[in-house]
Parts: sequence; C-alpha cells; structure tokens
Amino acid sequence: MDNHDTLFEDVLKSANIVDVLSSYINVTKKGRNYVALCPFHDDRNPSLMISSEKQIYKCFVCGAGGNAITFVRDFEKISIGEAVQKVASIIGFTDERLKSYREERPIDSRLIPLYKCLTDLTEYYQYCLTTEEGQIATEYLNKRKISSAIQKTYKIGYALQNGEATVMFLQQRGHSIKTIERVGILGGSIEHPTDRNRGRLIFPITNIDGQVIGFSARRLNDKSAEAKYVNSPETEIFHKSEVLYNIDKAKDSARHDGYIYVLEGFMDIFALVEAGIKSTVALMGTFLTSEHLKILRNLNVEIRICLDGDEPGQAAMLKISETLSQNQYKYRIVNNDGDTRDPDDIYQASGVNGLKTYLNNLLSGVDFAFNYYSNHSQLDKGTEREKLAQKMLPIIAKAPSELLAEDYLKKLSHLTGFPLRSLSKEYRRYKNKNANDPQVAVNDFHPERPLMQRLQLAEHEILMQMLQSPEAVNFYQKEIGYFYHDIYRNIANFLIDYFQNHETIDIANLITELELSSISGKENLTNQITELSFEKKPPYSLEHLQECQKIITEEKNQISAEDELQKKLIGKTDIERAMILNEYYKTHKRPRKKG
Ligand code: UTP
Ligand code: MN
Repeated sequence: MDNHDTLFEDVLKSANIVDVLSSYINVTKKGRNYVALCPFHDDRNPSLMISSEKQIYKCFVCGAGGNAITFVRDFEKISIGEAVQKVASIIGFTDERLKSYREERPIDSRLIPLYKCLTDLTEYYQYCLTTEEGQIATEYLNKRKISSAIQKTYKIGYALQNGEATVMFLQQRGHSIKTIERVGILGGSIEHPTDRNRGRLIFPITNIDGQVIGFSARRLNDKSAEAKYVNSPETEIFHKSEVLYNIDKAKDSARHDGYIYVLEGFMDIFALVEAGIKSTVALMGTFLTSEHLKILRNLNVEIRICLDGDEPGQAAMLKISETLSQNQYKYRIVNNDGDTRDPDDIYQASGVNGLKTYLNNLLSGVDFAFNYYSNHSQLDKGTEREKLAQKMLPIIAKAPSELLAEDYLKKLSHLTGFPLRSLSKEYRRYKNKNANDPQVAVNDFHPERPLMQRLQLAEHEILMQMLQSPEAVNFYQKEIGYFYHDIYRNIANFLIDYFQNHETIDIANLITELELSSISGKENLTNQITELSFEKKPPYSLEHLQECQKIITEEKNQISAEDELQKKLIGKTDIERAMILNEYYKTHKRPRKKG
C-alpha cells in the first residue's frame, strides 16, 4: 500500500460518516440507521440510508452508495483527492501528508481569466464608490439605509460615468479586451468600448461558492426612464436562470435554521440580513426556475416564499406554490394580508420587528390559494362561486392528509355556499385522478429485491459471507472459481485482492481502495457492495457455503445442458425435436423459459 492509501484510510477512520454527511444534508436518525433525502437524484422521500456502524451510505432509489469520501466527491463534484482534503477539514483532521495532496479545483482553465477579471473589476467598482463622483452612490445607499457592513459584505460598488476608464483600468491590470468582452460588461462600439454599467450602483452577483460571476447595476435616479436594473448578459459563467442571489452566504445557515426565505430582489435580502435573518436568497425577479429548484432541494429545508405583495408578486407565488406542491417540496408562503409592499419597504417603515412579524405570518399552499382566489372572485355571483370551487378542488386534492382536506372542503363549502357533500364528491374525482399519476413512493427503506433466480441467490449467499470473512473468500477461490453473475464475480475478484493486504474487512475502507483502483465499472461495484452491506449479515458457516456450492454446481450443469440441448435442436424437424426433448427430460429438469 502506498502513502495515499494509508492517508485515505486514516482520514476515513477518524471521520464519522453521519457528521460528514450532516454538514451537507439534513440527516435524521431512524432505528439503528440514519436517513436523508438523497442529493444524487430528485428525491421526494428520504431514500438515502446511512449506517454509522458500517460507515457507508446507500440510496435505495437511485443506487448511489459509498463512504464519507465518495459522498463528498460526488456531492461537490470534485476529485477523490480533494474529497479527502475536504473530509479532513470537516472533521478537523490534520496531517503532514495532506499537504502533499493539494490539487487545484478542476475548473475549466479557459474560465480562469474571466474569474480574475471579475475579481479585479469588483474591487475597482468598490474603490469608485469612495471617489468624489461615487458620493452620489454612497448618498443613495445611505438614503436606503444600507449599512456600511452590508456594503462591505456584499461588495457593493459604483461604476464611474467614464466607462472607457473602467475598460482601461482592466487592460492595465493585464486583461485582454477579449476577456473583458467575455465577462459581459462591454457596451459601446468595438472602436470605443465602454462599461455598460457606467453611472450605476453595482451589486456583484456570486455563485454558490462565492465567486463573482456577474453584476446587477441599479440606476441612481428613479425619475429617469432607463431600466431600473441592468444585469450581466448570459456569458460563459453567468447564467441568470441558475442565480440565487446570496446562496453562498445563506446555504450553511439555512441548513442550520431549517428554512430559507425566497425573495424577489436583493434590496429585500439586505433588509432581512439587517433583521438578523441570514437564511434568504433572491430570485432577481419572480421566476423560479428548475435550476433554482434543484439547488433548493439540496438544502433540504422548508422553503418560505415571500415575493412582493403587489399583483405580479402574488400571481407568481400562486404559480410557484403549484410547482412546489406538485414536486412535494416542504414550503410555506408569507401572507401579505393585502399589503402590497416588498420586504424592504416594510423594513424601512416598520423596522426589524415589523419585518419579523410580517415574515412569520406563514400560510400553507392551500390556504394561500384560498386567499388568492377569494380575493380575486366576486362571490356574490354564481359563476364565480363555481369557478372558485373548480380552482380549489384540485389543490385540495393534493393536501398532505385527508384530515386537512376535510377542513379545506368545509372552508370551501362555507365560502361558496355549495353543500359539503357535492364538494366532497368532486374532490374524490380529483383524488382518484391523482392516484393514477405515476409516483415513486419509497416509504420502506429496504430494497425490493426482485425474485432472484436460484443460481444468483446461491452466489449472493456466498458473496455475503465473503464480504465479512477471509475464510469464505478462500472457499470461493478453491471451490467455486467464478460467479456467473458479472458484478458478483468482479466483487469477488476484488475481495481476493483486498485480503492479500488486509486481515479483516472494513467496508468503508474497502470502498476507498476500490475507488482508487483502476478497475473498470467501479462505480457499479461500489453501489452493489453498499447495497449488500445493508442486508442482514449471515454468520460464517461452512455448511451453508457448501449447500450453496451444490446449488451452483447443479445450476451451472443445467445451464450447460440446456445450451447443449439448444444446439442439438437446431435444424431438426418437429418430430425429431420432440424425441430429443423427451430423451432430455428423462435426466434433466424442464428448461426454464428463456427471454
Ligand atoms: P423590484 O422591481 O421589486 O426591485 O424587482 P427591488 O428589488 O424592490 O429594488 P428597489 O427596492 O426598487 O431598488 C425585483 C428584482 O427583479 C430584478 C432585480 O434583481 C430586482 O432585485 N429586476 C428588476 C431586474 O433584473 N431588472 C429590472 O429592471 C427590475
Ligand atoms: Mn424594493
């Protein structure tokens, strides 16, 4: 074993998988194991199982499995070497050998100049805020009560009216005009390039790792007819549909708090942060994209939607509510109670307490829809009452429990005047329609193993013993030789190698070695090994091994006899075939149906 293997082993030994995974996802104890929403597929029920005893995890829906190191590697999409570094830092493990294992994050090297340029530009804008011309921007920030702490944390800046100077500054810093163009700030003509953000207040936009990827630039004069905000165009690194403003600063606190507020604009973020609420992100508009959803799913916390109280904000929340409920997110909606202001307006008018009271008034998706549709209907008209019922029934049909649904139906009956009985009948119709929708329900964490054939079952039994004792591995080498089932055979071969260097088996450690090896299809093997490891371990028993061996021999003989038979049948007439088969059945079992 070389240095790296022992380093990996030492880190793994000191790491508790539950602690490591908890720093990424919400983990809850369930019986002897722990469970979590699986971050490797779009999980709705916790299907990731974590064993602290074996120090491994396994998702019984998508099949992902491994140890603490492979989790960090796959979650962060980094190399296994970086993952070891990460795990070591999470658990506070220090070691000289870690230093020699430093690798750069494998970002596309062609993008490095862009990030560098954006970093310099951000600093420049921050500097410009302190200049004489920048005074108007500072005054604006003061007027909007954006503290200097916020200005610093969010790297707020100002772009001088002289946009050519911005471009020149970057060129002096060694950035080519091509790079400056690629970061998306160029305006003007090719001969006279200028800064499209000039004269505006600058809000740098960061990705989830905190790197600046673009800007949003606000006009300072609200009387002007120019667009309020100018955002970076799509570039190689700025993709607006993926941007959740403040996600880099909110992700850890959200996991800690168990919720995240989703707002419209960054001015609103500053208000919440001033009020001590760190777990908040902004959509930079009212559109929640599927990329946003994926990021939010990974946080695995309650989503609290709080768009502006105005009509577009409320209509957008209704749509978002529908999406979240359809995809079974845990969420609530801030009740604006007819107040059309945004969170920043409320903070400015009513301070920290006023804002907190506002934010704590949360509604379920169904209650929100009730409010929304009732406010938009004239319930004294019969057609409007029916419309309200037709809008609400499918929403109620998605309620998480029958008890809640009943409450809602009563409320609907009260609002519309339709008898509860007729509403309930309609409700059933929707309910049944939902039941026919394809849905993955995984409430039982044990893998539903398809009925295994006799041969595979016997091989499986032997492999289960091999996964815990070198004696079983010896038995396999001497008596079995090879498994018919490909993955089992590959695992068996790996186990033979493993026991040449180890006396006992440690599954988590075995997985690292497997991942470091050059075996092809190792991801499959890791997934299969973790799956087997969650099954009940049979005690080592030579007798049982021998029974399985007998079955394997029988089954292998049967397979070769069937192959022989198939060959004999080729090109024969029906009568000849009948005779051959008749002869065959005298000494053999009926062939199994072949696919
Ligand atoms: P709002 O119009 O609600 O702005 O747009 P705001 O955040 O309240 O800003 P202030 O308080 O008027 O200064 C919400 C978000 O939509 C995006 C911005 O990200 C903004 O924060 N937006 C808005 C644009 O991208 N462009 C625009 O012209 C307007
Ligand atoms: Mn605002």
